[in-house]
Amino acid sequence: MSSIGENGADFLVVANRLPVDLERLPDGTQRWKHSPGGLVTALEPFLRTHSGAWVGWPGIADAEVDAFQEDGLQLHPVTLSATEVADYYEGFSNGTLWPLYHDVVAPPAFHRTWWNAYVRVNQRFADVTAKVAAQGATVWVQDYQLQLVPAMLRELRPDLRIGFFLHIPFPPVELFMQLPWRTEIIRGLLGADLVGFHRPGGAQNFLWLARRLVGLEPSRGAVGVRTRPGVVQVGDRTVRVGAFPISIDSAGLDALARDKEVQKHAKQIRADLGNPKKILLGVDRLDYTKGIDVRLRALHELLADGRVDPSEVTMVQLATPSRERVEHYRQMRGEIEQAVGRINGEFSTVGHPVVHYLHQSVNRRELTAFMTAADVMVVTPVRDGMNLVCKEYVATRYDLGGALVLSEFAGAAAELTSAFLVNPHDLDGVKNALEAALTLDPAEGRRRMRALRRQVLTHDVDRWARSFLDALGTQSTI
Ligand code: ADP
Ligand code: G6P
Repeated sequence: MSSIGENGADFLVVANRLPVDLERLPDGTQRWKHSPGGLVTALEPFLRTHSGAWVGWPGIADAEVDAFQEDGLQLHPVTLSATEVADYYEGFSNGTLWPLYHDVVAPPAFHRTWWNAYVRVNQRFADVTAKVAAQGATVWVQDYQLQLVPAMLRELRPDLRIGFFLHIPFPPVELFMQLPWRTEIIRGLLGADLVGFHRPGGAQNFLWLARRLVGLEPSRGAVGVRTRPGVVQVGDRTVRVGAFPISIDSAGLDALARDKEVQKHAKQIRADLGNPKKILLGVDRLDYTKGIDVRLRALHELLADGRVDPSEVTMVQLATPSRERVEHYRQMRGEIEQAVGRINGEFSTVGHPVVHYLHQSVNRRELTAFMTAADVMVVTPVRDGMNLVCKEYVATRYDLGGALVLSEFAGAAAELTSAFLVNPHDLDGVKNALEAALTLDPAEGRRRMRALRRQVLTHDVDRWARSFLDALGTQSTI
């Protein structure tokens, strides 16, 4: 059913990025490419089947692009100047909020100029959305870059039904309280009819802050997963606060993994790597929260201890370039590349590097082939709202092969309990889990993978979106 009428769209997603990014090529021409990250991976398939509209930034500064239709989706670009990209996106979003919300694993920086840009840009997103939304439309605002949009939009368009979902962790209240603009953020989110988090803990933290910072009287009962949302009265409005763990297009990936060409490609990857006995795989945006350093350190020690034989085990790390102008990211890239160089320098032989590191993004088919080829998927974030990579790996393993090593600090750990769960701060524990996964008995491996697949195939992204939109009370109209 199409939701774009003459008088505007009935269903809109508002996110910092559009699902496609504009790229300026050296010859002066431009092209659109797929945007990075889990938010787009998750939302795009749902939106495409529901013909919604998407309001977002085209990914480069000063891009003046008119609204356009792309494969059933109506895209409404929001222009950001170079200064706004630096202050709102790289600054407040990724230099303040990202580290603060990820347990301050890097120190967040607090700058008033960044905050001012965040307010200005959030207002622009609200203005554009207010113009393109039909009377009574449902607007679903996404993620930490746009936390002021719900209240700003409600001010402009009280007729709209507004949902907000946070794709990253919502931090412990002690950390959130560091933020100089903490009350403004909570008030911004309270503009929504439904505020969603991955985990009940995030919802509880938010409810506590609504009481402490805004003086409201939220419900006190425990929030459940997809059930028992918290409730808070804001004037004459009721705001619901719930937990909705996001997921992936599980059936789509399962089908892709069964594709003969993808399987051929997986065999080719193994052959290109010299048919090692075991392949370890990491797939991440190059982000300091992902614990890429943790798994490299663990591998290095296992090799040095003689517990892993470099002639038998190969690791592939695919790392999508990300936020390259933000200082912490630059520094971390150097450290990771040094760690890869150190392992290869000490343990490789000519023509057979132990670690294959690609600072590149690969397409879905190739990614599926890598996952099919991998014996052990290593997902070791020090903090992650959900982490979709681990769910993608499980969805591709219809053969019940492979093993998953997963950090307890990824939101997905609460669902994927049959993985080898590790504390990424405990290096010995990570080493033991890697060794156990590499030497796993096939029957035990199948038992674990069957349990993981049961979870991932029955809890896909469609179920996530439906449970959120049901709770928002708009399911029947979309
Ligand atoms: P985040 O949203 O923080 O990047 P997620 O694990 O939730 O983390 O989502 C990452 C998404 O990006 C997944 O769909 C994953 O497959 C994809 N991805 C990450 N790295 C690569 C890569 N090097 N090539 C292709 N896809 C990648
Ligand atoms: C995570 C965030 C998204 C973000 C993505 C990619 O998934 O939750 O909001 O879009 O990372 O990061 P980027 O900064 O490139 O948009």
